[in-house]
Amino acid sequence: PHEVARVKNLNKVSIGAHEVEAWYFSPYPIEYSHIPTLYICEFCLGYYASPKQLERHRHKCTLIHPPGNEIYRHENISFFEIDGRKQKSWCRHLCLLSKLFLDHKTLYYDVDPFLYYVMTQKDDNGYHLVGYFSKEKESAEAYNVACILTLPQFQRMGYGKLLIEFSYELTKREGKLGSPEKPLSDLGLLGYRAYWGETILELLLSMGDDDISIDEIAQKTAINHADVMYTLQSLSLLKTFKGQHILALDDNIIENYERATSKKRRHIEPSKLVWKPPV
Ligand code: COA
Ligand code: NA
Repeated sequence: PHEVARVKNLNKVSIGAHEVEAWYFSPYPIEYSHIPTLYICEFCLGYYASPKQLERHRHKCTLIHPPGNEIYRHENISFFEIDGRKQKSWCRHLCLLSKLFLDHKTLYYDVDPFLYYVMTQKDDNGYHLVGYFSKEKESAEAYNVACILTLPQFQRMGYGKLLIEFSYELTKREGKLGSPEKPLSDLGLLGYRAYWGETILELLLSMGDDDISIDEIAQKTAINHADVMYTLQSLSLLKTFKGQHILALDDNIIENYERATSKKRRHIEPSKLVWKPPV
């Protein structure tokens, strides 16, 4: 087999209205690997060496949204469910694009075992890709997310939490508990920690003085027991009292939570999810 140097090859991609710096190596074909900017069709994710070639392609490409079923629409946010087996080319293009921002050693060329949940933002020109996560059709470890990405031009705006919230909403519909595939990247861990903390604190504060067990927290959020425990411990909410675990919310924690959540952010509206677990 050929040995490919795992160095960052492309410098930049142009996608839709954005120019984005590449972070990592992605195995685009060699003839595209040393050009300064790669031009990507934001709808089919095909790649071109020049703006001219992309423009020619856009005259023929009729897509204005990702393929697959639109399973969620609320305000201008939609989610499309895409089967890797049925949309191989689109999903491989997505993997190539996302590898530019993911420091994984392997890229899943084999897209067949995955479903892709692609989040878009709509305007007059179409449904623009913001981010996605992939999910194994069958996960022996009960992972509910394989890879997750917000395109860099949309990061730190709350879309990562929205993607994560959506992944747990699917898991609730399945009547299961889930957790993201390990290892998580540094940014992945930061995103999940923020989501878990916010979600669990919100639930605890809504309980008033009622008791709640770890299992009830898990059942209500679809966050698995290990991640619930990890979150409670990292927020120092778990205290031991007479040999029993108890949850203690002090004013400091509540203040921090209120400060963190005072920034208005979008939430998933569960009634807008039209979806049954695939059988
Ligand atoms: N520095 C510090 N904290 C960060 C951070 C950064 N660069 N990026 C995210 N966070 C934390 C923050 O707590 C943030 O909440 P806040 O902005 O309210 O403080 C929280 O994560 C979630 O931010 P959000 O805007 O909802 O997430 P995002 O849209 O930026 O997406 C990822 C998060 C992980 C999806 C995104 O960083 C990404 O695509 N990274 C590259 C791919 C990757 O590593 N994926 C995970 C491994 S498979
Ligand atoms: Na990938």
